[in-house]
Amino acid sequence: MTIGIGLLGLGTVGAGVAAIVASPQGRHPLVAELQLRRVAVRDLQRPRPINLAPELLTGSPEAVVDDPSVDIVVEVMGGLEPARSLILRAIAAGKPVVTANKAVIARYGEEIAAAATAQGVYVLIEAAVGGGIPIIEPLKQSLGANRIQRVSGIINGTTNYILSRMADEGAAYAEVLADAQRLGYAEADPAADVQGHDAADKIAILAALAFGGSVPRAAIPTAGIDSLDARDVAYAAQLGFGVKLLAVAEQVGLSAEGAAELDVRVHPTLLPKDHPLAGVHGVNNAILVEADPVGRVMFYGPGAGAGPTASAVVADILNIAGIRQVERALPPGAVAPLDPLLAGRTWRPCALVDPAGTHHRNYVRLRTTDQAGVIGKIGSCFGEEGVSIQSIVQFQPSVDAAEGAEIVVITHEVREAAFRSALAAIEALPDVRSVAACLRTL
Ligand code: NAP
Ligand code: HSE
Repeated sequence: MTIGIGLLGLGTVGAGVAAIVASPQGRHPLVAELQLRRVAVRDLQRPRPINLAPELLTGSPEAVVDDPSVDIVVEVMGGLEPARSLILRAIAAGKPVVTANKAVIARYGEEIAAAATAQGVYVLIEAAVGGGIPIIEPLKQSLGANRIQRVSGIINGTTNYILSRMADEGAAYAEVLADAQRLGYAEADPAADVQGHDAADKIAILAALAFGGSVPRAAIPTAGIDSLDARDVAYAAQLGFGVKLLAVAEQVGLSAEGAAELDVRVHPTLLPKDHPLAGVHGVNNAILVEADPVGRVMFYGPGAGAGPTASAVVADILNIAGIRQVERALPPGAVAPLDPLLAGRTWRPCALVDPAGTHHRNYVRLRTTDQAGVIGKIGSCFGEEGVSIQSIVQFQPSVDAAEGAEIVVITHEVREAAFRSALAAIEALPDVRSVAACLRTL
């Protein structure tokens, strides 16, 4: 018996999904049961990379959701609205939804999950994080027995592709970003990638699954690669580090009321060259899960692009199609119960801790005058706040002494508030021209 698919969007991901559905040979037999019934696009005249019967296309996404021949709604249009309303409309009609839309899930996941639970339908989101990497279902199901301590990783393909090509080939930022857009890696507005917001959406989703409750998306401290200076990438390399855009969610406490206290953040990070995440290049993503008792588990693979993302979307469709088949085989009137693990219910509140109280290693680049005693004064400012220095190195931007010096400091793991106080004191030193860069270090 066939399963009717309604696609909202036929861009990079939608076309990838349509291509899999159109060629079921050699895949799981359920793929052959899937049939595209309606496809919504914005521009009906635009040439498409895949041949579809013209009558399948419509400019009305509501018509796709409402079409009685559509059993599963697949939202791959992106953006917040009308995507959120269309997902809720599908749920209200009792239709399961598959979506790759991390922006919607990170902001409206609770609302959507509540509506889905009330209606007894699934909303599956494997493609929302990590492209082709299975990470959502492992966190919901396979790692369910663990106490998760930390989830960290490279979860934006565009920025990892940009950083890798800049480091390996010395390629120019704008040129590599244009390539990432052409290859279908970047968001419709690539500012979401390079400013870190896409990674923040994804870590919000992973944190909710790992720690049992939704986190306030807007409160996640986020820095992207758009303000990263190539000079810091070069200095980091000389000091034995690579630079990656890292997203981290870790449990740092448990409140008396049982809420998980989390440090969740996104920022460019210096990684020692032998760290497992430092070897993740190009569009690849990797997510490291540290949990008790499993230990460290790393998920690696292509994090963006049509094929990998469609692989995750179609896997979710097949999960639902399989359940549909079981339901159809049940005696009349019987209803298959919603699988709580697949549905991904949460079980406790989560709260973000004040960043001032968190502990990190830091990389700081200071522009200073090139004079005796400067390094000593800087060291004293750190020392007065109890900030322990791991290394301090002077770099010379040019042979011209008038240009001054550049001093790079790497701290041990220190309290953020103490580090910030020390930086304020350093910035006030007459010999210090500016705090030119400040990055986290693993
Ligand atoms: P895309 O290439 O821009 O495609 C979006 C599609 O949706 C287009 O076909 C567009 O129609 C259609 N669309 C947009 N607004 C519409 C509206 N109001 N009514 C009808 N159709 C509408 O985007 P994408 O890269 O495929 O990404 C889709 C979603 O997947 C996003 O949520 C994105 O974050 C997520 N995602 C993408 C990737 C990736 O690697 N690209 C990976 C994981 C997740 P037209 O073609 O006529 O413009
Ligand atoms: N723009 C996103 C990225 C797509 O580059 O990772 C995959 O979610």
